[in-house]
Amino acid sequence: MPSTVLVGTQWGDEGKGKITDLISSDYDYVVRFQGGNNAGHTVIADGKNLALRLTPSGVMNPDCTPVIGNGVVVDPRVLAGELDMLRENGISCDRLVISCDAHVIMPYHIALDGAQETRLGKHEIGTTKNGIGPAYQDKAGRTGIRIQDLLDEAIFREKLETALDYKNQLLEKIYHLPTFTVDQIMEEYLPYADMIRPHMAETAQLLNTALREGKNILFEGAQGTLLDIDHGTYPFVTSSSCCSGGAPTGSGVGPKAIDKVLGIMKAYITRVGSGPFPTELFDETGELLGQVGGEFGVVTGRKRRCGWFDAVIARYAADVNSLTDIALTKLDVLSAVDTIKVCVAYEADGQRYDYFPMQHSVLYPKNVTPIYEELPGWKGVDISECRTFDELPANAQAYVEYLEQTVGVPMSIIAVGPDREQTIFRNWSAR
Ligand code: GDP
Ligand code: IMO
Ligand code: MG
Repeated sequence: MPSTVLVGTQWGDEGKGKITDLISSDYDYVVRFQGGNNAGHTVIADGKNLALRLTPSGVMNPDCTPVIGNGVVVDPRVLAGELDMLRENGISCDRLVISCDAHVIMPYHIALDGAQETRLGKHEIGTTKNGIGPAYQDKAGRTGIRIQDLLDEAIFREKLETALDYKNQLLEKIYHLPTFTVDQIMEEYLPYADMIRPHMAETAQLLNTALREGKNILFEGAQGTLLDIDHGTYPFVTSSSCCSGGAPTGSGVGPKAIDKVLGIMKAYITRVGSGPFPTELFDETGELLGQVGGEFGVVTGRKRRCGWFDAVIARYAADVNSLTDIALTKLDVLSAVDTIKVCVAYEADGQRYDYFPMQHSVLYPKNVTPIYEELPGWKGVDISECRTFDELPANAQAYVEYLEQTVGVPMSIIAVGPDREQTIFRNWSAR
């Protein structure tokens, strides 16, 4: 039963889209198992630069079936727009399969996401304001509306009435915002049901049957380990399970079906939104990494915060995901800097932390001092044309080998640019 989970190992935007698209030819199915259109996965192929938010990045490969699993929250408006965008680019979406159990993002979720952020003020999470958190709140609170509910008008109306009865009170009385009517939402959403109907399936059965037939499945994670609801820098996280453990629950296959876990790791580190970030750079080096790396959000256009590679986080991600392999991305961006720093441990209150600390207060700038190792760089050498490890400058090879040894997981893929071809395969195999 060959299957692989691909996960972000930092705070998202590690290059998951590029790597998923790149290796999808080795898989029969590519499955999103969590998150929603908070994700922005860039895929550059055949001269096209596409940002995918909901559709699995395997959609670019005509031999691959893209699946939106039960763990995803689906905004039908965004889905409709994305399918149109893909078709306009000549990419067929006929093969797309959507789980009947995935939850639906409703207009009131989006309104509440914004309202909750405003209420938090300076303590805001910095969400993408796409209604992700409120949709997962309803899922856990057992008042959510699933894809299958949209397909039966009577059931949809009944669930919507129950939900709006409470949501409207929240919007009106607590947040002083406009309310929604059942008819207004039904009128907009029922046509989406027609759009979704041909794609809907019981995806747990689909995927388990595929596994029995010896098909190969790639689970495409969104966000990253430190944005995971359980393992991330709570409360500055998203509301789903972004780690590899989310793949079984978010798709309906058992954990024994997974035999590889590929962690996507940037050669430095970025974060969008609020929350602690021990190696964050507030100087011109941080600016430089952001400019050279093009570190602006795919979904929101927000500037990403930049910092040095954090091996404490990398080792933690290796553990909580059971990483078997790492794809190191954006190594080419480091050609812009002189000396490269790697955070190997933290110091706070006179104590050294080699492992991710129990108390997250340690991670805040006012408390933490990162302990850095300095490595010589390869400034000015363009590595984006390198296609084998041996072609990399000696200092770039040494940097990768140092990270590999510090993290303890083989770096099987190295990305040296955004295009498919700008990749070095070392010892990666899908099976
Ligand atoms: P994702 O959310 O993990 O899929 O990552 P994003 O697409 O949000 O952000 C990654 C950005 O880096 C995108 O613009 C990619 O095209 C780009 N990218 C991916 N790999 C590389 C690489 O190795 N080098 C460079 N320079 N850019 C890359
Ligand atoms: P990809 O898949 C980076 C961040 C938001 C915010 C927090 C919560 O492209 O890596 P949410 O809207 O999910 O409630 O926001 O999570 N966030 C991401 N940051 N990449 C992403 O996705 C993200 N998805 C959510 O910025 O800090
Ligand atoms: Mg992204």
